[in-house]
Amino acid sequence: LNYSVNRERRYILEVLFNGLRRLEYRGYDSAGISIDSSLSLDADTLSSTPLVFRQEGNIESLVKSVYEEVAETDLNLEESFFVHAGIAHTRWATHGEPAPRNSHPQTSGPGNEFLVVHNGVVTNYEVLKETLVRHGFTFESETDTEVIPKLAKFVFDKANEEGDQTVTFSQVVLEVMRHLEGAYALIFKSRHYPNELIACKRGSPLLLGVKEQTEDFGVEASFHDAKFLSKDCKPKELFLSSDANAVVEHTKQVLVIEDGEVVHLKDGCVSILKFDNSKGKHSGALSRPSSVQRALSILEMEVEQINKGNYEHYMQKEIHEQPESLTTTMRGRLIRGGSSKSKTVLLGGLKDHLKTIRRSRRIVFIGCGTSYNAALAARPILEELSGIPVTMEVASDLLDRQGPIYREDTAVFVSQSGETADTLHALEYALENGALCVGITNTVGSAIARNTHCGVHINAGCEIGVASTKAYTSQIVVMAMLALAIGDDTSSSLGRRESIIDGLFDLPNKVREVLKLDQEMKDLAKLLIAEQSLLVFGRGYNYATALEGALKVKEVALMHSEGIIAGEMKHGPLALVDENLPIVVIATHDACFSKQQSVIQQLHARKGRLIVMCSKGDSAAVCPGGSCRVIEVPQVEDCLQPVINVVPLQLLAYHLTVLRGYNVDQPRNLAKSVTTQ
Ligand code: G6P
Repeated sequence: LNYSVNRERRYILEVLFNGLRRLEYRGYDSAGISIDSSLSLDADTLSSTPLVFRQEGNIESLVKSVYEEVAETDLNLEESFFVHAGIAHTRWATHGEPAPRNSHPQTSGPGNEFLVVHNGVVTNYEVLKETLVRHGFTFESETDTEVIPKLAKFVFDKANEEGDQTVTFSQVVLEVMRHLEGAYALIFKSRHYPNELIACKRGSPLLLGVKEQTEDFGVEASFHDAKFLSKDCKPKELFLSSDANAVVEHTKQVLVIEDGEVVHLKDGCVSILKFDNSKGKHSGALSRPSSVQRALSILEMEVEQINKGNYEHYMQKEIHEQPESLTTTMRGRLIRGGSSKSKTVLLGGLKDHLKTIRRSRRIVFIGCGTSYNAALAARPILEELSGIPVTMEVASDLLDRQGPIYREDTAVFVSQSGETADTLHALEYALENGALCVGITNTVGSAIARNTHCGVHINAGCEIGVASTKAYTSQIVVMAMLALAIGDDTSSSLGRRESIIDGLFDLPNKVREVLKLDQEMKDLAKLLIAEQSLLVFGRGYNYATALEGALKVKEVALMHSEGIIAGEMKHGPLALVDENLPIVVIATHDACFSKQQSVIQQLHARKGRLIVMCSKGDSAAVCPGGSCRVIEVPQVEDCLQPVINVVPLQLLAYHLTVLRGYNVDQPRNLAKSVTTQ
């Protein structure tokens, strides 16, 4: 946050706290903030020791501790600053337990000469730490991040010792960057450069929000010119964040910062340099970065999207808004009517690549967590309509194995955030191997959206609950549309495609219908509240539903749950079956129905405690002797049924979590967007 308008310290604190609240879903085990203090202001240099507050726990613990500390000191909250630069961070621990010393901002040492907040992981931190320790630095945290402010101090001191009193903040950061390996988005604050912030990134997301800005936004900079020219340098408020959520309530004008860019905020002015590491990190003289001219883009999201509205939790809101999110996902993409073909789909981001995709030797889906499950749900229809073999890859596993990816492959990267580190690395790998790379993400401007050759945005709207719900159903719908688009040149499947398109048109209504099971799922949750474990059996189109339903229960209700492919029941899982263990069997009407009936019979014969999900009217056919609990859902086109079937399981997971007293939106140890490997 960098202001060049008259603002009170209280306002500055609140803006930073609110920003953290908006980002809390990305990490919530500790938090920290740094703002300036005019108590220790040096009148000559205008520098003062920045105040740093760090606290274990969620954002509110930090807020409380800051205000408590303020009450005990003579820190004047109403004091105004004409220019101010503050930074804040909410953490999801990677290196070092959640504790104040491991929270960010990390510091260069006493006096807080350099402070850094970091999203990512510095992979060579141990080597850097050893070197810095040899130069007399002492470390207080177990984080990888701490090497960064210490390295900045080292670079700064060295320049000064060598007589370079004019070393700029950007120069210091550029030199630090040359030594860092891994992924990062960083913001630096320094006592030596009051009212300035520097941000840079490689791998992790970062954007700049600009408030009070004219259209004529351009930035120019030259490496040796400390003044950094900017066409528009009027007083303004500037926001740096890993996520648009923290910015949208202040401004919709943003600049998505690219890898290697170094952003310098000073007195409300912006300048951007491009870091060129081509000379290698030990090349001696600093590489000469070039200045960058960038246009602002406009965020399409609304502040209301990131509020809970009338709901108690984001997850609850997101489950219930699925009829609307699915409508938005399909808007403008389903075409009914017209001369030659009556029904078709239009995916603008793919139209120039469909021929290449149709010629692929194989389509590989790559993703993690819920996104992987969504791809798995769409796999059968893609195989059917494209006739191309479709394989599945968990992103990390593909990388672990360095599995074969060929030039003739189409690799489809599925990711809600578009920033998941494992998926991003798999994308780099697939690009290196020459595959056509398609992105399916919910985040315009995300790394996956930018780095793939083509793609489709799922347009589900901002998803805040850590457990993905509406993004999952929208992803399935987008991939069903992908299958329709690829199969669009095959006349033999025309009838089938038209039925699916009809089914898509009607899907939001059917989801509205299935959401009426809310109370029924709450009642079921009450029955299951004290259970240790829950199995979910599915097959065919609904194998993915079993995995996703179990993942939801595991993630938020903190109950062991396993999704099992029903065809494998006899090969192990059957051993678990007794009269106590609850088992959900998905047996909605499709080509696998009779096989699922036989699974139910076998489970029943072993006194299994069954909860069967079936199509409306099928109760008697799935529940031998009326001995099990039945969840009846509306029937839709088979390949779209996973969209319907997952909803009761989302509701079950939600209610179980609330009843068990756990945090729905911020499940233990998890983060929404895992931007570290
Ligand atoms: C994390 C989240 C999951 C999500 C997965 C993949 O593990 O907790 O909910 O499914 O990342 O995220 P992506 O943004 O790539 O879909």
